[in-house]
Amino acid sequence: MTSFAAYAPDAGGRPPAAISLRPATKGDIGGILRLEVVSGRAAGSVGSAEGYRRAIADPDRCVLIAETVDAGRRLLVGWAKTHHLVEAVDPAPPGHYLGGITVDPAWRRRGIGAALTDARLQWIAARAATASYVVNARNRASIDLHRRWGFAEVLRAPRLMGVEFEGGVGLLMRADLSVVQPD
Ligand SMILES: CC(C)(COP(=O)(O)OP(=O)(O)OC[C@H]1O[C@@H](n2cnc3c(N)ncnc32)[C@H](O)[C@@H]1OP(=O)(O)O)[C@@H](O)C(=O)NCCC(=O)NCCS
Repeated sequence: MTSFAAYAPDAGGRPPAAISLRPATKGDIGGILRLEVVSGRAAGSVGSAEGYRRAIADPDRCVLIAETVDAGRRLLVGWAKTHHLVEAVDPAPPGHYLGGITVDPAWRRRGIGAALTDARLQWIAARAATASYVVNARNRASIDLHRRWGFAEVLRAPRLMGVEFEGGVGLLMRADLSVVQPD
């Protein structure tokens, strides 16, 4: 089973969700793990609580939570992180990467993925001139999500940032951030 969203280019136009974004804390780790499971991530590929804890504690990374209020309770509906690659381990070069994003399937196509991406690009733009991400060539929903920021393919390889791609092809995508205005 794939954890990618089904590609549906004509399914847009839904009203935006009323969400707020905030930096993740240790208290979000349970919610992040739950979200990965409901999003269909295979058991073996869900990150570890310890890995999430390290990412949240790392000042060189941006880890964000998207939440809404449902019946008076806060509900985690998406999360995303950046990754600062300092030393290349394969063809992916050092730099700041959009390092993963998941939106609850029940909340998709309501602008949450775009909001989490815009906020992370603002964060990267304050530190670097370009941002990159790696994606499975089959994940067309993710490729379309990132298109509006001008990401273009730099190279393709079976392994990028230590990730082996199901189907054998991963893409390294990069955008010039000179057009993204940091806060
Ligand atoms: C990819 C993902 C994060 C998108 O989140 P989202 O909240 O649904 O995205 P948005 O509502 O902000 O979508 C913004 C735009 O992205 C594109 N897009 C998003 N999902 C799409 C899909 N399933 N098919 C085609 N285009 C899609 C559309 O252009 C969309 O605009 P529109 O709705 O006006 O047509 C979400 O589908 C997800 O969590 N997927 C599983 C995890 C994953 O693949 N992560 C990326 C790894 S690189």
